[in-house]
Order: sequence, then C-alpha cells, then structure tokens
Amino acid sequence: MNGFDHRHLLDLDGYSRTDIEYVLDAAESMAEILDRQVPQVPALRGVKLANMFFESSTRTRISFELAAKALGAEVINFAAAGSSLSKGESMVDTLATVAALGADMFVMRHARAGAPHLAARILEGPVINAGDGCHAHPSQGLLDALTIRRRFGAIDGLKVVIVGDIRHSRVARSNILALGKLGAELVLCGPPQLVPGQLATMPAVSIESDLDRAAAGADVLMGLRIQRERMAGPWLASTGEYVASYSIRRRHIESAGAGAILMHPGPQNTGVEIEPDLADSDRSVISEQVTAGLAVRMAVIYLLARNVLRVET
Ligand code: CP
Repeated sequence: MNGFDHRHLLDLDGYSRTDIEYVLDAAESMAEILDRQVPQVPALRGVKLANMFFESSTRTRISFELAAKALGAEVINFAAAGSSLSKGESMVDTLATVAALGADMFVMRHARAGAPHLAARILEGPVINAGDGCHAHPSQGLLDALTIRRRFGAIDGLKVVIVGDIRHSRVARSNILALGKLGAELVLCGPPQLVPGQLATMPAVSIESDLDRAAAGADVLMGLRIQRERMAGPWLASTGEYVASYSIRRRHIESAGAGAILMHPGPQNTGVEIEPDLADSDRSVISEQVTAGLAVRMAVIYLLARNVLRVET
C-alpha cells in the first residue's frame, strides 16, 4: 500500500510532502506514456470525466481533457456559456444533472471559493479543483513543482520569489503550499496592498516589497497575473505604476542565480508582469509549465480514479 488514499484534489493543505512527491513521481510515469508513438493507455476505459468549467480557462481545461483521453477515459465538456445556467439552473442542479448522465468524476472551476468542496459533498465521484475564486488551484501548484523539480532535481532550499497580485491569486496560495512542503524558501513580492501580511506567518515564507532585493540570489522568479476580475475595489492605482515597480526585467533574472528560471502560470498580460522579450527567453520555462500540466493532470486523474472508482491497476 502506498499510503496515497485521497478521494479528491480540492486543495493541497491536506496533502503531505509524501503525497505531493507521490503525485509528481506518478506524473513522470505519465510523461513516459506521452512520449510513446501512441500516447494513450486504456487504464480508464469506460470512465467518464466531466470537465465542469463555470469560469473561463484555456490551458487547464484543455490539459484535463487531453489527460483524461490519454488515459482512455471519455470526456464530457461543460462550459457555463450556452448552458442552462442562463435559464436560472443552479450549480448544484447542473452537477447533479451531469452526474445523472453518467459522469464518474469531475474537474471543476468556479469563481466562488469553496464551490468544488460543496461539489465533493454532494457527488459520489472524485472532484478535482481546477481553480476556485481566490482560494486554490492545486493542479497548478503541482505542475509548477514538477517543472521546478525537473530543472533543479530537488526543491529543498531553493529560493522561489512569487511576484505580483498575491492577494487575489489561487496560484500563489497553491504554490506556497506545494513548494513550502517540498522545502523551498518562499519570498512574496508585490505592492503591499496586494500581499497579505499574514502569509509571512507560514513556515519558510517571507515578504519583500522591493523586487530588486527579492530577486537577488533567487532560483525561481514567478510572475502572477494582475487579476482585475477578482478585485472588488481599486486595489491598484494604475497598470503603469505596477509595471514600473513589479514587472520582472532582465536585470532581475541577471541578479538571480546563474541557473535561475522564469515562470508564469498564464494567461499573461503581455508586457505587464514580465518584460516582453524575457518571457520568450531561454530563462523562461513557461512552455514547460504547460507541458508538465498534462502529465500532472494524468497522474491526478488516474490516482483518484484508482482510489475511488476502483479501476483495475
Ligand atoms: N494557469 C491557468 O489556470 O490558466 P487557464 O486559466 O488558461 O486555465
């Protein structure tokens, strides 16, 4: 028995370091399948995975779909636009309807924090949180951890600087949990009003509002999108002011470690979070993040299906 007994992936706070490493190791096995001439296995033949996107997505939605298909599962794609939500149907009734149509497991993105937790209480199958409001985006935390581990071999002791709108970022929160458990030293950097001070009470987390000081000696510089759609008030005076102080520039990567890498979960506001040419430079692993997402999501789908749906292994 491997000890990985989770039924859902709702957040990483309930996942131990061992659990996270187990998923990352499984993702490397999945990556071997993706490298084959026919990148598909029948492991989840007969399983129906519902991709329930109540909020927009490109990379997460597509990679969960491809991941499920690579494992031989069928995929039901639900998007809020064009659905009966516009006629007043509730989220709960929508989920129950898709379950009644035969969905066995659910990937769910929603603008409200906690929506996937509610889904996990009412549905029988596994629920994977694909991003809920400002709360969590656990598969992003895992794929970022895999990307970093592939580059550095291990995450223990690495200095990871997360830059930008931390307050509204589910990616930041999931990365703090994943990378913190794997031994990284985390520095949060951004306009003070967008970096909640209480995060510095977490183990191995500190706050530095000056990007030049934060970047010095870093192994990883991770830019985050300004999430205006989640800002309920005037959190930012102007984009220009943000760019002047917090756009990641060549001088920042040069003052970081010799092998330092640049990350961004996407989607980017081009030229805002990262200097335009830098995002496409050889220091950038943004495409590697997207690619890692496919293997990580295959691993998550497979491990939860094995635990809950008792598919044969
Ligand atoms: N990183 C991320 O979640 O991107 P999408 O919104 O395109 O899925």
